[in-house]
Parts: sequence; structure tokens; C-alpha cells
Amino acid sequence: MAKFGGDFRVDKKGAIDLVTEVDVEVERMFRAMVSERFPDHQVLAEEMGGMAGVPAGPCWVFDPIDGTTNFTHGLPIFCASLALEIDGAAEVAAVYDPTRKELFTAERGGGAFLNGRPLHVSSADRLIDAMLLTGFPYDVHSRVEEIVGLFAAFIATTRAVRRLGSAALDLCYVAAGRVDGFWETDLKAWDIAGGALIVAEAGGSVTGIGGEPFRSRGGHLLATNGYLHDPMLAVIRDHRANRARKVTE
Ligand code: IPD
Ligand code: CA
Ligand code: CA
Repeated sequence: MAKFGGDFRVDKKGAIDLVTEVDVEVERMFRAMVSERFPDHQVLAEEMGGMAGVPAGPCWVFDPIDGTTNFTHGLPIFCASLALEIDGAAEVAAVYDPTRKELFTAERGGGAFLNGRPLHVSSADRLIDAMLLTGFPYDVHSRVEEIVGLFAAFIATTRAVRRLGSAALDLCYVAAGRVDGFWETDLKAWDIAGGALIVAEAGGSVTGIGGEPFRSRGGHLLATNGYLHDPMLAVIRDHRANRARKVTE
């Protein structure tokens, strides 16, 4: 069945990890544009990779489609995600959702915007009043208990938890105050570099999952409206302590 206006080839990178010809073509076009306009800039993007480690100078961190599984199934929750990092720190970011025509942007120190209008995180300050988002990694089949265990811990303490399938949009929805927090592990820089700056510029907090400083290449993050950061860290800490106790019993 044709999805989003046309047929496209879908290949498997792993048992449940898909790539379409649209992902590859969008990334190819993006790389061509950067090499024409900024020939000395680096690109780190999902389908063709990039330098290992944090390069010195400007590096465009790009995910041509974040939410490829949704895109492949015809579910309209996906985006393109971009950040310009200089010496590893995001300076500008843009996340575009083509089905809703929503463009989320941010510049370090200059605020965050949705289609040009200023964005601000929510004001919920109790977990029981919060709606959270999360996502599952592509190796979830081998770690179901661990991943669903933390999901269950948040289900048990909040108003609701949703799993949308696009980490970059998850972050933008925290920035827009549509949800109050988001956590996920096993992410790549292209999933989160742009969205993390957008959350921070919308007044939210972004750290690693244990509360350590956020790094786009750190592989995990917790992003909240700020008020819920410590309460969410406490749930994560308790969950980890319970698991560790069970393993040693
Ligand atoms: C994925 C999405 C998903 C998240 C996965 C990511 P992709 O990116 O962001 O929400 O749970 O961990 O890998 O593969 O659609 O670009
Ligand atoms: Ca992604
Ligand atoms: Ca992708």
C-alpha cells in the first residue's frame, strides 16, 4: 500500500530496525547541501554515519527520518531532526514534522519556537499530574523485563505514559508543554541532539538518565519541565536499586 504519497522500498538493518529508501535519499540530499555550502563542516547522520567521537569545529547532526517504523507503517508520527554542534555543543536545532507542518527550532540562549511562536515547558510539579513519554530500543526483545520494568514504575506513579515512536518529537513535545517529561536509553546523537537543545531553550531540564550532565553521544537522557526532574530521577534510581537487589538475591 502506498504510504505518504508514494511507494518506497523498506530494508531491514536488524530484526525490527528498518530503513526506507526515503531515509537514505533525504540524508544524501542533506549531505550534498552541506558539502556545497559548508565544505569544511562535518556531518554525523544515521544512514551513512560520520566521525567517531566529538569532532572539533562545526558538525551537523542529522536524522533524516526519526520514527522510521511509524513512517513505514503509515502512522503519521515522524520528523527530520537536525542540530548544529560546535565542538560538541548544540548551538542551533530544528525538528520538522511534515504531517502537522510543525517546525520546532532553537538557538542557544535565544529561546525555542514552534512555527516562530515562543515555546515553554509545562508547569506540572507532581508525578500524579504528569503525562510522560518514553521509547524502546531496537534490542528490546532481549531486555523486555528491564525496559518494561521502568515503564511500569512510571505507569504506577503518573497520570499516563505514552510511547510515540520518535524521540526527537518526544523532546519537542516536552518543550511545547504537551507532555511533562521523557526518558529513553540506547539513543544515538541524531535522535536527541536537536530536541535536547529545544527542551533546554524552552525552559526545561535535560540530563543523562542518572542525573549526570547531558551529552548527545551519551546514549540516554531524561528531559523534563524542570519541576519533575528530581521526582523522575528518584523513580529511576529506585527501579535500578530494586533490579540490582533482585539480581543479587
Ligand atoms: C528511533 C525513534 C524511536 C526510539 C528509537 C530510535 P529511528 O529512531 O526515535 O522513538 O525509541 O530508540 O532509534 O530509528 O526511527 O530513526
Ligand atoms: Ca532516530
Ligand atoms: Ca532515523
